[in-house]
Amino acid sequence: MAKNREVVDKFGKRHTFSEGMEGVVATSSEICFINGAEGRLFYRGIPIEDLAENSTFEETSYFLLYGELPTQKELHDFDTRLKKYRAIPDPVLEILKQMPRKANTMQILRTVVSLMGLYEEKSDEHSVSETSREAEKLIAVFPTIVAAIQRLREGKEPISPDKSLGHAANLIYMVNGEKPDAYAARVLDVCLILHAEHGFNASTFTSRVVISTLTDVHSAITAAIGSLRGPLHGGANEGVMHLLNEIGSLEAVDEVIRLKLKTKAKIMGFGHRVYKVLDPRAKILSQYSERLAEITGKQKYYAMSKKIEEIMENEVGDRGIYPNVDFFSASVYHYLGFNLEIYTPIFAVSRISGWAAHVMEQLRENRLFRPSSVYLGDIDRTYPKISDR
Ligand code: CMC
Repeated sequence: MAKNREVVDKFGKRHTFSEGMEGVVATSSEICFINGAEGRLFYRGIPIEDLAENSTFEETSYFLLYGELPTQKELHDFDTRLKKYRAIPDPVLEILKQMPRKANTMQILRTVVSLMGLYEEKSDEHSVSETSREAEKLIAVFPTIVAAIQRLREGKEPISPDKSLGHAANLIYMVNGEKPDAYAARVLDVCLILHAEHGFNASTFTSRVVISTLTDVHSAITAAIGSLRGPLHGGANEGVMHLLNEIGSLEAVDEVIRLKLKTKAKIMGFGHRVYKVLDPRAKILSQYSERLAEITGKQKYYAMSKKIEEIMENEVGDRGIYPNVDFFSASVYHYLGFNLEIYTPIFAVSRISGWAAHVMEQLRENRLFRPSSVYLGDIDRTYPKISDR
């Protein structure tokens, strides 16, 4: 149920509105459909389970951007272009190397993407070919930026992309310096598919609002990254890992979670504005987390996650609060060997495809976003001189 708020303005007029714009239709879209009551998610009509089972991140990205699944040749050409665009431009890399090592990875990513806009020759032009070229370049370069930030933080040199590797495998390689095994690469590929798109979430809406002014694509994406960073949005996956680390052991789960619920603290990775049942992405990620726990022989994080899920279901399941995509992605990234600082950036590496698809869709039939608010402040106040205040 939307949280409706009723207020009376200075003129005595009564207004009812939905806090946080819950349930408010802002425009139409053909990219994503979510059935929050039944826990179903579709990218351009295809169930997320089918994409996770059969697709790759590259193919899913093409599908989101261009509306149809690619033919073999289209996919090959798209993949070739992505590989060509993977490198960070030299002047940008030089500036990246000067950035504070301790700064938050999402803040550095946001700054680097903004910076890259300076090196785009025609970023204010919104022809379809120009916009899709910029979109592809951003999708291609995000993993390289994220991996470079992480390596620099660790005092290591960034690793150049490897054209023999797919998008997901190449990200692991650029972070660790080692080519991953096929299973690890596939798990990350699935994670990227699952996070690529999700309708009018805060960061995607941000990207659409910004591009609706007909500004450049980099401005829209930079703003979206800033939005994704927040703990109520993509930042929740890091919050989940902090929670797991704070709890520390399977035995401590019960006490910590119940205490948090008692004090009305939010449990990161649970709850969703749209899903009131289990998020279908969490269901898939839970299975991967379980399998990775078996393979690595490190059950702790998966076992703790399952225990938290069980307690939450008993305590708040009847209120529609279930694991969301961020909950099991935390333990999956942990098992894949990623450092906590790049959990949310990995979300961005994936969601750039959704943002780009929405930016392109918005530009096709653009109308400036300009909502309103109910004014509750004073009216007709006198302006006192500064000496009289
Ligand atoms: N743990 C405990 N209680 C919760 C939680 C949670 N994770 N989420 C919601 N609630 C409670 C909340 O305290 C409130 O209770 P009350 O009515 O007694 O005040 C009620 O449920 C409604 O919460 P809300 O925050 O008004 O609902 P919303 O639709 O604005 O919340 C949400 C959506 C995702 C912001 C929220 O569930 C939340 O903060 N979750 C934790 C952060 C998180 O996991 N975010 C990731 C979202 S999914 C991926 C993404 O978009 O990036």
